[in-house]
Formats: sequence, C-alpha cells, structure tokens
Amino acid sequence: ETKPRTPVIWVHGLECTCCSESFIRSAHPLTRDVVLSMLSLDFDNTLMAAAGHQALAVIEEVREKYKGRYIVAVEGNPPLNEDGIFCIHGGRPFIEELKEVCADAKAIISWGACASFGCVQAAKPNPTRATPVHKVITGKPIINVPGCPPIAEVMTGVVTYMLTFDRIPELDRQLRPKMFYGQRIHDKCYRRGHFDAGQFVEAWDDEGARKGYCLYKMGCKGPTTYNACSSIQWNGGVSWPVRSGHGCIGCSEDGFWDKGSFYDRV
Ligand code: SF4
Ligand code: SF4
Ligand code: F3S
Repeated sequence: ETKPRTPVIWVHGLECTCCSESFIRSAHPLTRDVVLSMLSLDFDNTLMAAAGHQALAVIEEVREKYKGRYIVAVEGNPPLNEDGIFCIHGGRPFIEELKEVCADAKAIISWGACASFGCVQAAKPNPTRATPVHKVITGKPIINVPGCPPIAEVMTGVVTYMLTFDRIPELDRQLRPKMFYGQRIHDKCYRRGHFDAGQFVEAWDDEGARKGYCLYKMGCKGPTTYNACSSIQWNGGVSWPVRSGHGCIGCSEDGFWDKGSFYDRV
C-alpha cells in the first residue's frame, strides 16, 4: 500500500481491441483493483477519457519522469511496409511511437497473438508486413502473453506477478510466462479420458458430440497448444472453447492462421 504505483503506457498497433475487452473482465484480481490500486495506467488511448495532443503529452511526461521505471503494454503490432503508413497515430507511423516509448521502459508486455506473433494481419501474404513486437524492439525484457485474446486472469496475473516480485516471470523460448503457458491444453482437458479411450466426435451432431467425446478428429489443436484454458478457463472459470463443444484452434500458438487451425479435420 505504501509502494508507489508502477506507471504503465498501453499502446495500440494493428489490432481488434479484444485484448482490452478481455483485460477489463478479469475476476481474480478484479481489473478495477489492478488499474486503480496496483498500477497507474497513465496512458491507454482506448480506455482514457482524454484524447488528441493532451493525451499524447502524457506519454512524454511519463517517459521523462519515470525513465527506466515504467512498463509498456502493447496491444497489436506495427506494420513495417511503406514506412509504416498502414497504422498512423497522432499523424505518424505507430512503429515510431513504439520505438520511442519502449526506449526508456523497464519492461514490455506484448498482449495477445497480434503483439506476440503477428496474428491475422501477419497471415500470408501479410500485405502490410505486420511484425511482432519482439522483432522490432531489442535490448529490453519482453514478455509475450499470446492468445486471441489472452485469458483475462492470465493478463492480470502477469501484471500482479511483476508488481509483487518486482521482476518478470520465468519465460519459455517464445518469451511466454511458464506459469501460464507451460502445459498443453490437452494435458488438463476434461475430455482427455475420451481421447485415451479412443472415443471421438466424428460429426458435429453425432452421438459422440452429445456424449462430450474428444474433439481431436474435428480438428482440436489442444495437443499442440500451450495455454491455460483447460485449467483457468474463461469468463471467471465458467467455460472455455472445448467445453462449449468446438475444440481449440490453437489461438495462442505462433502462426495459427497459417497452420490450418480453422475447421481443419484430421
Ligand atoms: Fe484482437 Fe486477437 Fe489481436 Fe487481441 S490478439 S487484439 S483479440 S486479434
Ligand atoms: Fe485433447 Fe482436444 Fe481431445 Fe481435449 S478435446 S482431449 S484438448 S484433443
Ligand atoms: Fe485459444 Fe485454444 Fe484456448 S483456441 S482460447 S488456446 S482453448
């Protein structure tokens, strides 16, 4: 309670804003507590009331006052083709803003598949050359929190860890926090018993679907996807894709759009 709140600058590149939508729905901890008591969200052009030059001036203020002590959260990615013209903020390419704001940051969090891996805008043929944050920013600790979007409690969990321990969480080779991305969806899936018993859904409306059999033959990517959906679940633990009867499309994996994840049956 006596510790000064860590300033955060949250910037947006090419994205759909559903990472923000996910974040504001965290139940444990409540987003309200994260934003109002744990950190100081000084700039977020989606959530803040201010706009235009007054809002942009806050970035400069934070950079000067908290050099080396603030966190940058990035939603979306910078497109590099044609000098970045495909994403303009305040009259200039997002890539310029991103490089500037990251230069004095303590650490950078890449929210979602867009910032971590490129997502749909980077799918072939990637006309704007949308590029993940860690490929354009170097020399700073970067934490990838993939998913399209990431689970709300994973997002606030990463922030909570960083604020509590004053360090970044342990990461895997793809810069993902091991505590949330250390296991496959398949490892904790409640339908795993059906997989092991060879009981599969073979058509969306067959008997196996009604009995909740394994969705592997309907294209479930749980066996190759690292995320916490089968343990933490979504909407405060209410459900998740496999429980809703669809199967995982691997939205937290690099390049899932180009890997035939959608409705690609085995
Ligand atoms: Fe939207 Fe997915 Fe990108 Fe998040 S990762 S901004 S949910 S497209
Ligand atoms: Fe694995 Fe998917 Fe089957 Fe669950 S539904 S056991 S994640 S293949
Ligand atoms: Fe994404 Fe698969 Fe979870 S599609 S939301 S990683 S179950």
